[in-house]
Amino acid sequence: MSLMEVQGLSHRFADGTLALRGVNLAIEEGDLLLLAGRNGSGKTVLMKHLNGLLKPTEGRILLEGRPIEEDLPAVRRKVGLVFQDPDAQLVGQTVREEVAFGPENLRMSADEIERRVEEALRAVGLRELAGQAPRRLSGGEKRRLAVAGILVMEPRLIVFDEPFSGLDYPGVLQLLREILRLHRGGHTIVVITHEIEKILGNATRLAVMDRGAVVADGRPVELLDRLEGYGIRRPEVNGKGIEGVTWLR
Ligand SMILES: Nc1ncnc2c1ncn2[C@@H]1O[C@H](COP(=O)(O)OP(=O)(O)O)[C@@H](O)[C@H]1O
Ligand SMILES: [Mg+2]
Repeated sequence: MSLMEVQGLSHRFADGTLALRGVNLAIEEGDLLLLAGRNGSGKTVLMKHLNGLLKPTEGRILLEGRPIEEDLPAVRRKVGLVFQDPDAQLVGQTVREEVAFGPENLRMSADEIERRVEEALRAVGLRELAGQAPRRLSGGEKRRLAVAGILVMEPRLIVFDEPFSGLDYPGVLQLLREILRLHRGGHTIVVITHEIEKILGNATRLAVMDRGAVVADGRPVELLDRLEGYGIRRPEVNGKGIEGVTWLR
């Protein structure tokens, strides 16, 4: 059984835009799935369906074999979404409060919240800044804070929407390392990006969206020659093969 299965998913907005047209996608336990596609192809709209933020016009999503709408609170604990704009998500007065927000909403015990918050802050390297105001963090630190806010829920699946956009070179490297560490630690990861050259060599799978549908899905090396047709720049592959297509060294 797949961890998550998207079946025949369509979404029409109130203004008539048909943003998704019959998306099929299976996310397997242990995947580091790269989801690429030109602007407007439906990536973010698909992401918002994965924990029920948007409701499908047609089709359904299964998590561990069960339709997600049967228990959305449980789905939201297991499926963490890291959105592109970190500012939009900030609610706390301090970094620590920000991270504690999710567990407090679930009325976890104070001890449990403390344990989880410390662990999440350590994982993203923000313990030293725990008392700082979130708005005073750098762009890269804000994105790591958003990751901590998801990690603290101990999700099974983490989806990152354009995680590298707007980060400087060290910021990209740090987040990339963080994503790979989470993957090695047993999390299933989806990275939505059109900057595939930064991480393609680390991906177990590549899926491509175009005009609201998944049009290609498979091993990265097998899809390389089709990318440009879908508006994605084909990354250069040097002597190391596709494993070398990553910004990590
Ligand atoms: N709230 C909305 N109302 C109407 N159309 C929308 C809305 N949000 C997104 N869309 C449209 O849905 C399509 C897919 O958008 P999106 O998923 O954001 O693309 P991307 O692949 O760049 O993330 C686009 O045509 C976009 O304009
Ligand atoms: Mg998007």
